[in-house]
Amino acid sequence: MDFKNKVILITGASSGIGKQTAIEFAKKGAKLILVARRKDKLELVAKELKKFHTTILVCQCDISDKDQVKEMSKIVLEKFNTIDILINNAGFAIYGTVSNLSIDEIESQMNTNYFGMIYCVKNFLPSMIENQVTLLMSHQLLQALDYQELHHTVHQNLQCLDFQRV
Ligand SMILES: NC(=O)c1ccc[n+]([C@@H]2O[C@H](COP(=O)([O-])OP(=O)(O)OC[C@H]3O[C@@H](n4cnc5c(N)ncnc54)[C@H](OP(=O)(O)O)[C@@H]3O)[C@@H](O)[C@H]2O)c1
Repeated sequence: MDFKNKVILITGASSGIGKQTAIEFAKKGAKLILVARRKDKLELVAKELKKFHTTILVCQCDISDKDQVKEMSKIVLEKFNTIDILINNAGFAIYGTVSNLSIDEIESQMNTNYFGMIYCVKNFLPSMIENQVTLLMSHQLLQALDYQELHHTVHQNLQCLDFQRV
């Protein structure tokens, strides 16, 4: 696939896999929207990507907050009209079983890894469908959660969304 000038939004682009994904797509000439909570880290990534001479938009956003995601998507869609690829990467792992993890820990992870992803999908999908681009990628799908029920829930809910898994 030719990624030149494709508009790609990456959540969790301030570090780790998201940052590296941004570098790889920038090398291929994609236009990037970098999303995460730590603006200083995002600015550093954007600075690192300057050498690839592509368009970069930094968006500070906590994806577990639906109002912030709505605001972020408004800014993005005003600038780009639509996005070609949404990479739902932001998230974190928690380790343990349902019996030893606290409700707060589980809720916190679900709010980011699950609902955060849903907020992003819900805000960008309409313009993606309108423009006939529906490529969504989710690391969370690949994540091995130790507590099976939650994994099952995420899995089942995602299967209900008619989108392409990569
Ligand atoms: N590394 C692995 O082996 C592995 C394995 C399976 C799955 N995964 C999943 O792959 C993804 C990336 O992992 P990683 O290892 O690259 O982790 P990482 O280095 O900790 O990166 C996580 C990214 O998510 C962002 N993030 C976290 N909570 C957020 C929120 N509420 N709103 C917006 N951004 C948020 C962080 O940025 P800010 O802190 O700046 O917001 C950061 O950029 C995660 O979803 C992780 O669970 C990783």
